[in-house]
Amino acid sequence: MRVLGIETSCDETGIGIVEDGRRVLANVVASSQQVHRPYGGVVPELAARAHVEVLWSVLEDALAEAGVALAELDAIAVTRGPGLPGALLVGLAFAKGLALGLDRPLIGVDHLAAHLHAGEMVEPDLAPPYVGLVVSGGHTLLCVAHADQRFEVLGETQDDAVGEAFDKVARLLGLGYPGGPEIDRLSDEGSPQAIAFPRQTAHEGFSFSFSGLKTAVVHQVRKSSRSLPDASPQEAPDRRHVADIAASFQEAAVDIVVAKALRACQRTGIGTLVVGGGVAANRRLKERLMQEGASRRLRIVVPPGRLCVDNGAMVAGVAYPMLQRGEVAPLSVNADPRLHLT
Ligand code: KG4
Ligand code: ZN
Repeated sequence: MRVLGIETSCDETGIGIVEDGRRVLANVVASSQQVHRPYGGVVPELAARAHVEVLWSVLEDALAEAGVALAELDAIAVTRGPGLPGALLVGLAFAKGLALGLDRPLIGVDHLAAHLHAGEMVEPDLAPPYVGLVVSGGHTLLCVAHADQRFEVLGETQDDAVGEAFDKVARLLGLGYPGGPEIDRLSDEGSPQAIAFPRQTAHEGFSFSFSGLKTAVVHQVRKSSRSLPDASPQEAPDRRHVADIAASFQEAAVDIVVAKALRACQRTGIGTLVVGGGVAANRRLKERLMQEGASRRLRIVVPPGRLCVDNGAMVAGVAYPMLQRGEVAPLSVNADPRLHLT
């Protein structure tokens, strides 16, 4: 059974083709990041227009990569939320057109369930229950994934998503967009112990907060620019200092996420943690999770980068069990920008 998955919830236009829920035949992603770069963040209207422009060619590339014709697809899956309303509607309308034209079932999927399902696609013996951690530009969420794609949300961010915090701090430091990969790279040149940024892990719950950390970085940057009034960002000593701030921020953000995820495993007594979302590509986060997992005998699943960032293969993959359960969407299905895992 071949499912086509369409992902347009944010700034990536992704189309994947997956056979029997696991075998990825194609996974093509076109990003409109360069369009948003001058603004330092995703501009929703521009993201929606970019999806309109590239969807057809991304589909052609995916079909070519998989070596299959449109007529050989068995179902059309699409992200229906959460995400940017206009961006979601473009993907949904495209999916409906394909489903109608090909006379195939349409499946509307939850973006966060798709991120977590990426873990099941790479580790065939992985089965619920597991603790799920989604860390992306739009979401920071801990949940327990039960059988039949039922989710129990343990906690979410109260303010910024962790990827958003990376992007905002990168902008403050004069780095490029998206900021996560920039901070990840620059941190190699700095010391994670240089600045003791606050870690809001003290309270017992599972909710996250990154605003205190972000504000502390703002204060640090102001303090640093006062003490270096004539320094230009290109000068070597300044770059070293920026790298110290980047590495120290990254260490604090990773500490917050790791502490909550480990706490969720401990409290639920579940020994498997599945991580999804763009920030799961962060090398320090992966390293820390693997270290802690090994010492606590936890199984930690972090899919490879191309399945962590927004992509169509995870959408096709998560739709397969839905199709088997007969969870087909009507052609009147609408986007739900605030769709919440249940
Ligand atoms: O999952 P994703 O592609 O899109 C959303 O659903 O948001 O995640 C994008 C986010 C951006 O905030 C980006 O800065 C962050 O993931 N990101 C990273 C890294 N790679 C991407 N953050 C930290 N380290 C990375 N290596
Ligand atoms: Zn995402």
